[in-house]
Amino acid sequence: MSERIKVMIPEEDIDKRVRAMGAEISLDYGNEGVVLICILKGASFFACELAKRITTPVAIDFMSVSSYGSGTVSSGRVRIMKDLDDDIAGKHVIVVEDIIDSGRTLSYLKKVLEERNPASVKLCTLLDKPDRREVSVDVDYTGFTIEDKFVVGYGLDYAQKYRNLPYIGEVELD
Ligand code: IMP
Ligand code: MG
Repeated sequence: MSERIKVMIPEEDIDKRVRAMGAEISLDYGNEGVVLICILKGASFFACELAKRITTPVAIDFMSVSSYGSGTVSSGRVRIMKDLDDDIAGKHVIVVEDIIDSGRTLSYLKKVLEERNPASVKLCTLLDKPDRREVSVDVDYTGFTIEDKFVVGYGLDYAQKYRNLPYIGEVELD
C-alpha cells in the first residue's frame, strides 16, 4: 500500500497560530512560570516552537506514553513508557500534545499528573479531532480543530514517517 500526502494546514498558518497561542499562554501566566510537558514524540516539534513564543519563565520536561501502534488505529490503552525527570509539586504545568483524538491519552495524563499535586494542570494541543472523541476532556489551548482525517507532519507520523514535514498533511491511501 502506498500513500500520498496532501497539504491541509500550510507552514505559515501553523507559525501564526503557534505565535498566538504563545501570546495567550504568556498573558495567562504572567511571571508565574510554567512547566511544559511535551508528550513524545509527536508533540516535540510543536512544544519547541511554542516554548519560543512564551515569555513567562519556561521549563520543559518530557513524557512518553504508548497509544497507537504503527498504523492508524488506536489500541485504546495508555501506558507511561518514560516518566518526567522532575517533580511537578507546586508547579503550574501545561501538557503539550500533538493531537487529541479519542481523548484517552490526555484524560489519563491529566489524572495521573493531578495526583502529583501541581499548582495547576492545563492541556494544550496543536490539533483536535472532536468527531473521534470517546472520553470527554477539557482542552485549554487548541491550535486547530480538524475533520476526522489521519494527518502527518509537524511531529505527527504515519508508521514513524513524515514527522519532519513543516506543514500538516492529510494521508491519502491508494
Ligand atoms: P488519543 O488518546 O486517541 O486522543 O490519541 C492521541 C494520540 O494518537 C496522539 O498523540 C497521536 O500520537 C495519535 N494520533 C491520533 N490521530 C492521529 C493522526 O491523525 N495522525 C497521527 N497520529 C495520530
Ligand atoms: Mg502522541
